[in-house]
Amino acid sequence: MKVLIVGSGGREHAIAVAMKKSKRVDELFCVPGNAGIAQIATCEPSIKVMEFDKIVAYAKEKAVDLVFVAPDDPLVGGLVDCLEENGLRAFGARKNAAILEGSKAFSKDLMKKYNIPTAAYETFDDADKALEYLETAEMPIVLKADGLALGKGVLICNTLEEAKAGVKEIMLDKHFGSAGNRMVIEEFMTGREVSVLSFVDGKTIKTMTSAQDHKRAKDGDQGLNTGGMGNFSPSPFYTKEVDDFCQKYIYQATVDAMASEGREFKGVIFFGLMLTPKGPRVLEYNARFGDPEAQVVLCRMENDIMDVVDACIDGTLDKVDLRFEDNAAVCVILASDGYPVSYEKGFEITGLDKFEGRDDYYCFHAGTKFDENGKVVTNGGRVLGITAKGDTLKEARRKAYEACEWVDFKNKYMRHDIGKAIDEA
Ligand code: AMP
Ligand code: GLY
Repeated sequence: MKVLIVGSGGREHAIAVAMKKSKRVDELFCVPGNAGIAQIATCEPSIKVMEFDKIVAYAKEKAVDLVFVAPDDPLVGGLVDCLEENGLRAFGARKNAAILEGSKAFSKDLMKKYNIPTAAYETFDDADKALEYLETAEMPIVLKADGLALGKGVLICNTLEEAKAGVKEIMLDKHFGSAGNRMVIEEFMTGREVSVLSFVDGKTIKTMTSAQDHKRAKDGDQGLNTGGMGNFSPSPFYTKEVDDFCQKYIYQATVDAMASEGREFKGVIFFGLMLTPKGPRVLEYNARFGDPEAQVVLCRMENDIMDVVDACIDGTLDKVDLRFEDNAAVCVILASDGYPVSYEKGFEITGLDKFEGRDDYYCFHAGTKFDENGKVVTNGGRVLGITAKGDTLKEARRKAYEACEWVDFKNKYMRHDIGKAIDEA
């Protein structure tokens, strides 16, 4: 088979590595890709993920058997529908299902309608009404821009003044663009966060091993929210008891709710959960693999990824025995200092060869490219996702941090406490 992956980050590199391992995949393509993906796939850096016509033309030209759409923007924008209309086989949520991630108001309303546990909330189209609501609301409180905002459209406000400023930022000043035309205001919850990814075929859902992300830029969960600075899998806090609860009240309930709404979901649902004192609650849904969750989850999957992808598309996931290795993985992001605000790029990356031939170590490229001399240089905020597997989380963490020292570039930045929570488990 020939497979085309759409996307350019560490997640897409992890998907490409899993595809490369598949017995059924002969040739890989990726648009736009990056310098790491280019080692195992033919990349076309000139085609961007929202250029649907170009992606369709490229898929036809290369006669691919499958297009795997990985990032949120093209999923929410309807790339899968567009590929299917052109007679191409595609993996990922269709537009009417990707709204689960594309609109926070939609996902909150869905959870309310189908009794799926989540934080209490109100939705607003009008800034004045939102400001009025805040006057009697309990603090802290959480403000969320309705639409996609690169994972940054969520503000946690400790005081009324902060919350009012937040409404202005989202709805009036449009810091997150049109994502802020509507807003969700929700109850602030406390607890540990866990990510659970799942494969879905419209009816059946099979969950993958759990992971825990570190969203803030700095050690000790300080600093700004980012796309994710590292993570680990499995989460020791995701116990059998928690899993039983979520299987019963959250996972299948979400798939059934989408089907009842006439929005059959096929692809990957990412459940962002908070383990509150009152039980697990849904923080958010994503309609795709997480980044860097894909990096720590896919490298532990025992199944051939193509078998699972086919089962999702064909509606035969009930026949798949989804299995994960009984070990652990940790991913530490090497970023450009200054991310997520402003940073320089274009610096040469050295030491990449140290990963060659080492089984349990992975160097997933996120923001890299080749410069005019063919050298690999930094090309984004998140540059590399250094990942290692071990028998235990502690061993995986030790190995991941060891491997972080193998590579270097000017302005290299990382958190030093990824997976530190393991010590408390
Ligand atoms: P989201 O994009 O919805 O996952 O939100 C980003 C981050 O904001 C989450 O990972 C949480 O850390 C935090 N967050 C979101 N909603 C809430 C909430 N209701 N209570 C507390 N923290 C929240
Ligand atoms: N790491 C969180 C996300 O991909 O949204």
